Amino acid sequence: MSDDLEKRIEAAVKNPQNLGEMENADAIGTVGSADCGDMLRMWVKFKEEGGRKVIDRATFQTFGCQTAIAVASVATEMLAGKTVGEAMSMSGEDLAAPLGALPPVKIHCAQLVEGALRSALSGEAAAPVATAPTLLQSFAGPKPGNLKIVLEQKDAPSG
Ligand code: FES
Repeated sequence: MSDDLEKRIEAAVKNPQNLGEMENADAIGTVGSADCGDMLRMWVKFKEEGGRKVIDRATFQTFGCQTAIAVASVATEMLAGKTVGEAMSMSGEDLAAPLGALPPVKIHCAQLVEGALRSALSGEAAAPVATAPTLLQSFAGPKPGNLKIVLEQKDAPSG
């Protein structure tokens, strides 16, 4: 990773923008990375502007690496004022653009942000936002009837 990119990521992580749950969000999306197991949730609020529905604000929470935090921070800044169509057309690379080009091993971190955004925007109309837990609450405890404990028993060595 280049020094410049590392510095920009560090700066974004030290002072992340739009971090945290949003009350009264219009849309919410959560995604997990198959590459690293990290998760990111994004909240989106819309407003009317010049007869168009645009993103007013976007916020995020993540159990992710520094790159994911940095990309989510700059991406949520960029999303304000965009229509759903404009936001949906942005790739992970576009969302990470203010940081600079990411190395191949970090591209999935930006895709985590892209995935959460797409998840929020595609489910926007029907998202049950009022009852959605925070990302932390999602992991805070077992959901009744949704927990299965399997004890694995290894055979005792013979002889
Ligand atoms: Fe998991 Fe970056 S390593 S999001």
